[in-house]
Amino acid sequence: MHATVSAIKAVIIYQTTYGHNREASMHMAKSLRAIGHEADCHNVHDILAEEVKGADLYLFCSPTHIGRPPRKMRSLLKAVSAVQRDGDYALVVTRLPEGEGGPRFRTTEMMEGIISKGHMRHRGSLELECVAMSGPLEEGWGGKLDSFLASVLAEML
Ligand SMILES: Cc1cc2nc3c(=O)[nH]c(=O)nc-3n(C[C@H](O)[C@H](O)[C@H](O)COP(=O)(O)O)c2cc1C
Repeated sequence: MHATVSAIKAVIIYQTTYGHNREASMHMAKSLRAIGHEADCHNVHDILAEEVKGADLYLFCSPTHIGRPPRKMRSLLKAVSAVQRDGDYALVVTRLPEGEGGPRFRTTEMMEGIISKGHMRHRGSLELECVAMSGPLEEGWGGKLDSFLASVLAEML
């Protein structure tokens, strides 16, 4: 990945049951640090919106639970967008492969809907497939995350 913006402070907030969103978050933090940015990762259960105020970029990583983001992620998104007057955000959502009969999830759409009520700028959303309920993540997920991050940073120029 190439640096596209001058050093930024990124906050990555994840929720996880089986560990894949934590792994994806750690991967993005490592990739951001490797090109000179600051990146902190937090479990959604360990922080309050006020404690992560003032970052340039927020990356929210969420699993899909019963077709939607889990409750804790929804309330954190609402709280961050309420306290954050400025800044950019992007979403990473994990879900099962799409089955027959259309999508069984509205996770990304619901997360975007919650944050759009605030003042933050949307810089992209990525969905990654979990091969089965407890994983693993789809093949090549690390590369997909790096390409996604590059496009998010380019959007921030
Ligand atoms: C209680 C529960 C409900 C789930 N419901 C859905 C669902 O409706 N649609 C879907 O695509 N995946 C569903 N999944 C699978 C999750 O998408 C998958 O376990 C998750 O993305 C893995 O991420 P994690 O390892 O960070 O928890 C569900 C998982 C759990 C634990």
